[in-house]
Amino acid sequence: MSDSQLWDDVDDYFTALLSPEDEPLAATRRDSDKEGLPPINVTANQGKLLHLLAQLQGARRVLEIGTLGGYSTIWLARALPADGRLVTLEYDGHHADVARRNLAHAGLDRIAEVRVGPALESLPKLADENPAPFDLVFIDADKVNNPHYVEWALRLTRSGSLIVLDNVVREGRVTDAASTDPGVRGTRAALQLIADHPRLDGTAIQTVGAKGYDGFALARVLD
Ligand code: SAH
Ligand code: DHB
Ligand code: MG
Repeated sequence: MSDSQLWDDVDDYFTALLSPEDEPLAATRRDSDKEGLPPINVTANQGKLLHLLAQLQGARRVLEIGTLGGYSTIWLARALPADGRLVTLEYDGHHADVARRNLAHAGLDRIAEVRVGPALESLPKLADENPAPFDLVFIDADKVNNPHYVEWALRLTRSGSLIVLDNVVREGRVTDAASTDPGVRGTRAALQLIADHPRLDGTAIQTVGAKGYDGFALARVLD
């Protein structure tokens, strides 16, 4: 059996046991596929991890950068109380339309708001609204801008907030200090920022599974 078949099988086992998809989550993946969105959403067991992290945070407010069809958004928004708020930023108008439909189908359209545009334009507008601090920020958009997204996350959070960065391994390419790949460079710069910043304390974890070999970074915001 190939490694990746084994990883798929273990993800299927964990997911069926611990994080099965209900109809709105399955519909979101089906609908995203039908609408031509790339299948790069988090897996169900990763989504459940985001959900549990948001609950552990006691999160009332979540910021997501990179919506796609709203799959990770649903896992995160379901961790929030009825008066909670999730803002998710998406560059692509079609992705945003698909996500809005899926969030409405999941009954989350009052909690989750999709804002269209380049996140580096949406973030200063959001900051101008002086929102209450976000308790968790999930960064999962264009990797080249990861250091900027971490900086914005710092501005929009409080001491004790959690920042989660997706796709920090990319088959191990992250270790290549000489890489010219903008995504690798952006992710390395974000990790360096987490390492150096006095208000961040973090780690990074490698993962294998249905999405291959990749990983997450987690950073806690300090005083
Ligand atoms: N979080 C989603 C997957 C996001 S995929 C999930 O797990 O379900 C990355 C998304 O980021 C894509 O939809 C892409 O259009 C969006 N994106 C790319 N560049 C962006 C930018 N500059 N600003 C906001 N979103 C961006
Ligand atoms: C890609 C982006 C993602 O956010 C992800 O989780 C996997 C792949 C990509 O752009 O290829
Ligand atoms: Mg991702």
